[in-house]
Amino acid sequence: MTRYSRIAGTGSYLPPRRVTNADLAAELATKGVETSDQWIIERTGIRVRHFAAPDVTSSDLGAQAARHALEAAGVAASEIDLIIVATSTPDMVFPSAACILQNKLGIAGCPAFDVQAVCSGFVYALTIADSMIKTGAANKALVIGAEVFSRILDFKDRTTCVLFGDGAGAVVLEASDQPGILASDLHADGKHVGILCVPGTVSGGQVLGDPLLKMDGQAVFKLAVGVLEDAARATLAKAGRTEADIDWLIPHQANIRIMQGTAKRLKLSLDKLIVTVDEHGNTSAASIPLALDVSVRSGKIKKGDTLMLEGVGGGFTWGAVLLDF
Ligand code: UT7
Repeated sequence: MTRYSRIAGTGSYLPPRRVTNADLAAELATKGVETSDQWIIERTGIRVRHFAAPDVTSSDLGAQAARHALEAAGVAASEIDLIIVATSTPDMVFPSAACILQNKLGIAGCPAFDVQAVCSGFVYALTIADSMIKTGAANKALVIGAEVFSRILDFKDRTTCVLFGDGAGAVVLEASDQPGILASDLHADGKHVGILCVPGTVSGGQVLGDPLLKMDGQAVFKLAVGVLEDAARATLAKAGRTEADIDWLIPHQANIRIMQGTAKRLKLSLDKLIVTVDEHGNTSAASIPLALDVSVRSGKIKKGDTLMLEGVGGGFTWGAVLLDF
C-alpha cells in the first residue's frame, strides 16, 4: 500500500495587538517617517498587522497555533513524532524554536528542528515532513510557521517596516493511505542573498553588522512573480494535474499585486485566490499556514479541495506544494 501524508488539522495564532495602517502611520510620524494608509493599501493590499508584546517569542506563537491544529485534528500532543518549525526569527541563536516549542507542548523525545528558508520556510518544512512520513520516519508531524518580524524591522525605513507582521500557523500532517500532498517543487538561488536579508550576526558577544531587515522591494517583486508561476506549473506537472484542478491558490501573503499577478499568469479566477495579507501583513514563514487556517475555519476551504501553496522570499528561495485537503 502506498504511504502518503495528509493534513489532519490546521491552527493559527495572532498576537492580540492589532495595528492598523493609520496607527502605524501615526507612530512613524513621531519618528519623522512619513507614510499613509492610502500608500500602503494601494501598493501592498495591507490594512492591518499584529505585533507581539516584547516578551513573546516565535515559539510562544507557534505553540498556540500548534495547540489549535492538534485540537482540530483530534490528535494528542503525545502522539506527535516530528516537529518542524519554519522561522527566521527564532527565540535564540540556539537551541531551535522547535525544541523550545516541543517543551511548551509538554512532549519529549521526537525529533524537533527549525527550517530557515525565510518566506518559503513553510513549503520547505511541509515538503520535508511529507518526505519523512512517506519513508516511515514519522507518522504524525507538527509543521509550523512562526515569526516575530517586528523584532527585525527598521522603523525608520518606511519601505520595509509597513509590510510585515507577527503570527503563527500550524498543521498536523499524518500518514494516510489516501493522497494528501501530491507534489512539491523547491528552489533556491543564493546569488540574490543581498536583495532581502538581515545582514547582522552575533560574534564575540557583540552584534556585528546591521541586525535589521533590508529589502530591494522592486527586485524581489520582479523575481517573485516569475518564480511563483514556474513553481506552480512544475508542481502541477509532477502531480499530473493542471491549473483547472486548483480549487484554491494560497501564495505567500506579501503583496496583493504579486498574488493577483500570479493568479492571472496561472489563468485562475481571482475568486480562487486566498487573501489574508490585508489582515496580517507579511508574516514570512507563518503567512501560508495562517491563510490556510483562517480559510478552513471560515468554511471557504473544504475537505477534498485541491490547494496550491506557494512560498517565495529571502535566499532567494521559492517553492510550491500541491495537495488534496
Ligand atoms: O516576503 C518576501 C517577499 N517580499 C515581497 O514580496 C516584497 C516585494 N516588493 C513589494 O511588495 C513592493 O516592491 C513594495 C511594496 C516593497 C514597494 O512597492 P513599489 O510599488 O515597488 O514602490 P517603490 O519602491 O517603487 O516606491 C514608490 C514610491 C517611492 O517614492 P518616489 O521615489 O517615487 O518618490 C518611495 O520612496 O513610494 C515611496 N515609498 C513610500 N511612500 C509612502 C516607499 N515606501 C513608502 C511608504 N509610504 N511606506
